[in-house]
Amino acid sequence: MDIVCTPFGRDRAGHAVLRYTLTEGALSASILTLGGVLQSLTVPDRNGKPVDVVLGFDSAEDYEQQTCYIGALIGRCANRIAEGRFVLNGQAYQLACNENGTTHLHGGKIGFDKRQWITSIHSEGLSLQYHSPAGEEGYPGALHAAVTYRLTANSLIIDYHAESDTPTPCNLTNHSYFNLDGHGAGPVGGQRIRLNAARYTPIDAASIPTGEIAATQGTPMDLTRETPLGAHWDDDFEQLRLAGGYDHNFIVDGAFGTLRPAARVSSERTGIIMDVDTTMPGMQLYTGNFLRADMPAGKGGVKYAPRHGFCLETQYYPSALTLPQFPQPVLRPGETYRHQTVFRFSAE
Ligand code: BGC
Repeated sequence: MDIVCTPFGRDRAGHAVLRYTLTEGALSASILTLGGVLQSLTVPDRNGKPVDVVLGFDSAEDYEQQTCYIGALIGRCANRIAEGRFVLNGQAYQLACNENGTTHLHGGKIGFDKRQWITSIHSEGLSLQYHSPAGEEGYPGALHAAVTYRLTANSLIIDYHAESDTPTPCNLTNHSYFNLDGHGAGPVGGQRIRLNAARYTPIDAASIPTGEIAATQGTPMDLTRETPLGAHWDDDFEQLRLAGGYDHNFIVDGAFGTLRPAARVSSERTGIIMDVDTTMPGMQLYTGNFLRADMPAGKGGVKYAPRHGFCLETQYYPSALTLPQFPQPVLRPGETYRHQTVFRFSAE
C-alpha cells in the first residue's frame, strides 16, 4: 500500500491538518487528522473509471463549519443517549446535550469528529489515535481510542480499538455519506440496498429507541430483498414519518462479535457494488434526510442537499445505556474494545 501525506490547511485553533492518501491497486482513500475524516474514497466503476463515492469538502474550514458529521469518526458514543443521562456501576452521569439541549448526539458538543487525531503509518495502513481525558463531555474515565484505516485490493477496512482506566460507554463508528453514483451525483433514491437485518429498533419522536425490537417483515423497513433506497422512504408509515426517511438502527443478523454481512448497495449507473461486513451488533441506515442544503459547497464546488448520500453506521444500538435489554456498550479497565467494519467494492 502506498501512503502519501499532504497539507490540508489549518483548523480554527491554528493547528495544521494533514491528509493521508492510501492507494492499493485501483482503490484510494484519503483520511484527515481532523476528526479522522474519510475525505475521499475512490473505487473503479464497471469501465474501470475512478469514482469518488463519499461526500466531503476541500478545506478544513468547511469541515469545521458543517454540522452533519460528514465522513468523521464518531465517539465516545455514537448516536443518541436520551437526556444524555445514564447510570453505570451505581453512579449517575450527565453528558453534554448537544441536540436541542435535551439529547446527547454523536459524542457531545466536541466529539471525536472535531478532534485532531495523532497518526502513525505502518505496513498495515494508517493508524489514528485520540486520548479522551476523564470527564470529557461528561464521560467517566480516560479513554484511549485507536482506529486503523487499511486498504486491500477491493476493500476499505476500519478497525476500532479502545482502552479505558474506568468503566465507560464506548461505541465508535464512521459517519461517511456514500453515493455510489459519485459524491456529487445528487439523490441516492435509485441505488438499491439489501440489509442482512430482519429486525430493527423503532424510535420515538425524539429519535430515541422505544426499547422495542420489531420485525421488519411486512413493513417498508423490510430491506432484506434488494430495494431502491427511495422506493419507500416517503411511505405513510409512522417510523418513516418520524425520521423523514430511514434513520434507524437495524439489528444485523448473526452473532455479534463475529464479522458477518450487514448490507449491500449497488448503483445501476456506475455498476459499483458496496458490501458492508461488521462485527458490531447494529447498523444505522440514515438516508441523509437532514443533510443541509446551506452547508459549504462540497468537493469540486458541488452542492449537497437532503438525500444526496446514505450512511451505514455500524454501532451498538442507540441509547443502549438507558435500555438495559440492549447489548451494553461498556468498556471496562483491562478490556480492549475491538470492532471491525469492512466496505468491499466490486463492479458489474
Ligand atoms: C443520526 C441522524 C442525524 C445524523 C447527523 C445520524 O447518525 O441517526 O439522526 O441527523 O447522524 O448527521
